Amino acid sequence: MSISFLRALLRAPHSVGAIWPSSPALAREMVRASALEGTSAVVELGPGSGAFTGHILANLPSGARFLAIEKCPILTREVSAKFPGACIVEGCATRLGHHLAEHDVSTPGAILSGLPWAIFSDDLQNAILHQVRDNLGTDGVFSTFAYYGPHKWGAGRAFRKKLQAHFSEVERSAVVLRNIPPAFVYSCRR
Ligand SMILES: C[S@@+](CC[C@H](N)C(=O)[O-])C[C@H]1O[C@@H](n2cnc3c(N)ncnc32)[C@H](O)[C@@H]1O
Repeated sequence: MSISFLRALLRAPHSVGAIWPSSPALAREMVRASALEGTSAVVELGPGSGAFTGHILANLPSGARFLAIEKCPILTREVSAKFPGACIVEGCATRLGHHLAEHDVSTPGAILSGLPWAIFSDDLQNAILHQVRDNLGTDGVFSTFAYYGPHKWGAGRAFRKKLQAHFSEVERSAVVLRNIPPAFVYSCRR
């Protein structure tokens, strides 16, 4: 865990929402589930300290645009320094459409989320999912992860239902054991 991640966690635990950054194994599963091949624009929501960012950039089709939107200024600075040249902006996932227009990024074929859904209110979850669905390309994929175990509890089940209400197809990956805690990936299509 980086010092910046720890500082951000202490300063805004209600927004960072994780005790440990995601593992490379989960990052690989997120990228696999997102089917980046052939996409002309890829968006990452909530990159944090960049646990997924390097894997996304390494698999970005040539010529494709990349935009990451991070709410925490400390982490925005850290991840920008880690990946010079990548477009990482301080902003909010609820304003996805605005950030795409502001940075002249075309309709994304893939949106990957590291957002801490479990600590978001119902209204915030809905606002972000509306933005994702409305801005994702017709054949695009939205992927997000959930921790194995809590997904069976009330809030986890409610979140899955919310994904199913916003997207016509919601698939689940196998559980990634090499992550703290173990997690799996939802991939959603409009
Ligand atoms: C749990 S961290 C995930 C970081 C990394 N993707 C990972 O999996 O390790 C969640 C990140 O989402 C950011 N975040 C929270 N709410 C956000 C919002 N509304 N818009 C953009 N980023 C947000 C937090 O600041 C934090 O950096």
